[in-house]
Amino acid sequence: MSKIHYNFETCPGRRGHGSLKWEKYADPEVLPLWVADMDFETAPEIVSALQARLDHGVFGYTIPHAEPIEAVLRYLERAHGYAAKAGWLNFLPGLVPAINLCCHAFTQPDESVMTATPVYPPFLTAPDYAKRELIGVPLCFNESDQWTLDFEAMEAAIRPNTRLFILCSPHNPVGRVFTQAELLALGEFCERHDLILISDEIHCDLIFDEAVTHTVTASLNESLAARTITLMAPSKTYNLPGLACAFSIIENRELRQQFNQTIRGIITEVNCFGYAGCAAAYNHGEAWRLALIDTLRGNYNTLRAFLASELPQVIFRPMQATYLAWLDVRGLELKQPAQFFEQNGIGLSCGEPFGGPGYVRLNFGCPKTRLEEGLERMARALKHRD
Ligand SMILES: Cc1ncc(COP(=O)(O)O)c(C=O)c1O
Repeated sequence: MSKIHYNFETCPGRRGHGSLKWEKYADPEVLPLWVADMDFETAPEIVSALQARLDHGVFGYTIPHAEPIEAVLRYLERAHGYAAKAGWLNFLPGLVPAINLCCHAFTQPDESVMTATPVYPPFLTAPDYAKRELIGVPLCFNESDQWTLDFEAMEAAIRPNTRLFILCSPHNPVGRVFTQAELLALGEFCERHDLILISDEIHCDLIFDEAVTHTVTASLNESLAARTITLMAPSKTYNLPGLACAFSIIENRELRQQFNQTIRGIITEVNCFGYAGCAAAYNHGEAWRLALIDTLRGNYNTLRAFLASELPQVIFRPMQATYLAWLDVRGLELKQPAQFFEQNGIGLSCGEPFGGPGYVRLNFGCPKTRLEEGLERMARALKHRD
């Protein structure tokens, strides 16, 4: 049987559609390589399912129903060997509200929340929004020069009032896939200090390094399962963030009740298209996802080769997952790197909100030609700066 050819070479224009990514910059010449939103059209299998839902013509309130529930449970078992139960699952309109609500549900105002930096900015703002103290502990490098958790620094920073650890696994923005040994060590740390672990695994199906696999934190052992809130969504992998469908899995009944009481009446329901997109992604999206991974691996290799030959002052450590590259540009000696690149036609994420001043994040979830254009603009801008 011949393989379906999926289109990762051309993309529809997005200006005029309210695209956060494409309409951020007043100057239409700026090439947006920032927010975690890919330029690719989603899988045609998902578009067909959404079309069928649209053709139904009635868009009433929608409850979590058999199709998305079964799709998620089957996917977790098939892709990650995690046998979750329907009762542990909560559909949510996004993981950012879930992270914020976790701070309210599982901590008191005089308690603190720990995370490892740099990290996805809402991990850093959520404790603050809830008026809880944030303890941000910088990641460090292991013997293979890869980013990893710094347990010594975490032990030194922990307080008796720390209740929660928020983990990004795989990690945005450094692109690491944590090993089972690292996750087990984190589990021991959480157990020793009686912490609840929020494990945001939204990037778990975006691994392009064939030598590594994702481990669902809660699947490692009973102790971890009992203290972990797993957060996932099809949105990053299948480029569906605008459909607003995500989910949590909480095995521990008490934690589940605490979470449900906090979200009650506050969090909106997922809409009918979110459920349809989620079910179609997990039931029919695998061939597209595999083709996407090949494309991302190709782009990652293009990016690495370009930086090594044209911009050797930029430090870019090997990554294993995501389409978000974390670039250490301190060697370029730019006062405000993201602003400098924006003025030269490349829209990157500024490192500061991630807790990484001197870094920028580049989104390579786009056609190779677009990535190459962005990289060439970066090199040109640096060559011609005064
Ligand atoms: C680690 C992480 N969590 C959550 C999100 C966003 O989740 P949502 O769109 O469901 O709020 C992102 C988006 O980039 C992310 O990188």
